Amino acid sequence: MDDKMKTLIDGLNEDLANEYGAIIQYTTYAATVTGMNYQMLKPFFEEEIPDEQGHASYLSEKIATLGGEPTTRPAEVVFTTDAREMLQEIFKSESATIERYKIRRQQADELGLIDLVVQLEDMIADETKHKEITERMLKDPRLS
Ligand SMILES: [Fe+2]
Ligand SMILES: [Fe+2]
Repeated sequence: MDDKMKTLIDGLNEDLANEYGAIIQYTTYAATVTGMNYQMLKPFFEEEIPDEQGHASYLSEKIATLGGEPTTRPAEVVFTTDAREMLQEIFKSESATIERYKIRRQQADELGLIDLVVQLEDMIADETKHKEITERMLKDPRLS
């Protein structure tokens, strides 16, 4: 396997770990959010989970197809019971993921993996939507 392909697969495994982390993050926050924020945030957290699951499935399959070994270790998730901190943590994760996918898109393009480029662009669009919703939620005055 050449160096560029190895770098790409290592990067995709970092992305996969972070998608697993995102599933854990949204699941945990949906389970623990309380008070007035419960009604506002629980449905939002739950709605994001299938998107992240789809991303994780796609990445693990692609890593295997490219000859790599998909990771089984999720990225670290910050636990908090504070609703604002939950949204801030999600905002950080989604922003970092978008930046990683831009790099990955470039690496995939250099290897001529057009299908992966297209899929990464789709995932950038999904994560940008998540990031923008989170940004708007953070502006809610009811947030304690
Ligand atoms: Fe995702
Ligand atoms: Fe996301």
